Amino acid sequence: MSFNDTFIRACLKQEIEHVPVWYMRQAGRYQAEYREIRKKHTLLEICRIPELCAEVTILPVQQLGVDAAILFSDIMVPLGPMGVKYDIIEKRGPILETPFRNADDIASLRNIEPEEDLSYVLETIQILARELKVPLIGFTGAPFTLASYMVEGGPSRNYIRTKQMMYGQPELWNRLMEKLGSMIVTYLKAQISAGAGAVQIFDSWAGALAPEDYKQYVYPTMKRIFQELKEVPVPKIYFGGVSSGELLPLWNDLDADVMGIDWRVSIREGRKRIGNNHAIQGNLDPTMLLAPWSKLESKAKEIIDQGLEAPGFVFNLGHGIFPEVPGDMLKRLTDYVHEYSHSVLNK
Ligand code: CP3
Repeated sequence: MSFNDTFIRACLKQEIEHVPVWYMRQAGRYQAEYREIRKKHTLLEICRIPELCAEVTILPVQQLGVDAAILFSDIMVPLGPMGVKYDIIEKRGPILETPFRNADDIASLRNIEPEEDLSYVLETIQILARELKVPLIGFTGAPFTLASYMVEGGPSRNYIRTKQMMYGQPELWNRLMEKLGSMIVTYLKAQISAGAGAVQIFDSWAGALAPEDYKQYVYPTMKRIFQELKEVPVPKIYFGGVSSGELLPLWNDLDADVMGIDWRVSIREGRKRIGNNHAIQGNLDPTMLLAPWSKLESKAKEIIDQGLEAPGFVFNLGHGIFPEVPGDMLKRLTDYVHEYSHSVLNK
């Protein structure tokens, strides 16, 4: 089988024969094979065993026939070598031993040396670059989303401590953003050198911010990150996460190639708000994977039709797959996206 680069072409707004599709959390607990592996290994153990991690990354590509793989890892992984002690607790998420709240905490954060600190990640990427017939997406968390775990000490509903630092100690906040920004650039460059064919920055919780606060406290770091990545030879995706609709106009001049949007804003409306500089990725509500097929099909059709109104569209969910989702629905959806979009594009 030859290499399928449809996903890369869609990211670069080039010609495609079908709409490419991949899913956030395409490796995970909805898969029986993943649950079996998780009985023997924690999530972080899987990340640290390159052969096993590569196997977990490849599994959904084989099962679903998606057009891209995403590295199996977690946004917390590069925070370890920065000096953050954390664990990932099932059904809750990342939990820190001690949150980062004062000047000494932030000053203690080191920059990473991926070749030494995260050699297992790079080794996994090297294996995958050899074995995959589709591009591998490397990734990292974005500064706000990472900071929210670091300052809160775990998942949060209202981001009270995070916003308290942002509003009350803006200098300290900026230092934290700066350190995370540098880590992100270093880490993504290392992933690309190891063989990642695209990279995505997950800003899952940025939608908790008012647009003017995002603009003041987060945008400058996002601007700098994408500027520093401008010359890298692979597409860059920014996923602005849950309820990010009001932020979309602020992304217009970020040097990313693709903007990932959630389901609260349609693809057509998303393009209107972001402008036409970027390809768009999204945005099926993952809950729709539990709906009857006819409902799911008509929603998928609507998303594809809007996606094809301009060059540059990648089909995805608006957020990650839940454990309750039946794998055969995902397979059926993947086939549908390929077949329906192929019929539209080759009329
Ligand atoms: O297939 C893939 O998408 C690649 C793997 C991946 C994981 N985490 C593995 C994982 C990716 C891309 C992530 C990113 C990530 N991690 C984000 C950004 C994307 C998003 O979902 O918004 C965030 C916010 C995290 C932090 C995190 N890690 C959360 C909120 C959770 C969920 C807690 C739970 O148990 O539901 C985790 C755990 C986690 N990371 C799982 C997986 C597959 C859950 C399964 C498990 O514990 O084995």
